[in-house]
Amino acid sequence: MRTLETGQGRFISLEGIDGCGKSTLLQRLSQWMTAAGMAHVTTREPGGTRLGERIRELLLDPAYSGMSQESEVLLYSASRAQLVQEVIRPALGKGLWVLADRFCDATLAYQGFGRGLSLDRLLGLQEWATQGVLPHHTLLLDCSLETAASRRQLKASTPDRIEREAQAFHARVRQGYLELARRDPGRFLVLDAEKPLEEVLADLVSLFRDPLQPSLSKAWHGEFG
Ligand SMILES: Nc1ncnc2c1ncn2[C@@H]1O[C@H](COP(=O)(O)OP(=O)(O)O)[C@@H](O)[C@H]1O
Ligand SMILES: [Mg+2]
Repeated sequence: MRTLETGQGRFISLEGIDGCGKSTLLQRLSQWMTAAGMAHVTTREPGGTRLGERIRELLLDPAYSGMSQESEVLLYSASRAQLVQEVIRPALGKGLWVLADRFCDATLAYQGFGRGLSLDRLLGLQEWATQGVLPHHTLLLDCSLETAASRRQLKASTPDRIEREAQAFHARVRQGYLELARRDPGRFLVLDAEKPLEEVLADLVSLFRDPLQPSLSKAWHGEFG
């Protein structure tokens, strides 16, 4: 897939199994970026647009337990297509940073590795749905299934349709994410999300200024790509 000409902004996605800490860390990273004067937008998936939020309701509602795998992929991809068109491309065009709570790797991990759909077919669909827009960096928050499950129980809400899947499904998704990271080490950074929240946040923030992490520190200085 090609990446988009983006001016100064960089597109960062956070990925990982449900309960690994994406939404919490994205919010904290956003606060840190605001304090650091880095103009940015945040997005979540599915959702992030008016149409996407309606699609989100359909996707996560346990009432649709009979949803076909193909319908599921197409609905996630429809939500993502709208997000790229309405939010991500315009933001990158203005030179803003984009922090995304999930992007196309989630479809490869959940519907590809998790449900067993063809990765090649999913990749082609993603390239079409996203107009070829791919994150510059994908931060994979990796933790054990047990840790993720106990963190999910901290949430006040009842488990959604995907969270209700069996542990074996979540195990395939975790391994799928790690495999995606192995296949694309230039884009992926794997973070140990087993650690306490403040430590994971410190690791995340250090990526933006640690000279030992050339990809993100170059991005920070505007020299990348
Ligand atoms: N590293 C961490 N250590 C301890 N608790 C965490 C950590 N990361 C997240 N949590 C907590 O786990 C719960 C689920 O986190 P959340 O950000 O909603 O995960 P996700 O968006 O990946 O599903 C929240 O209550 C959050 O405060
Ligand atoms: Mg979340």
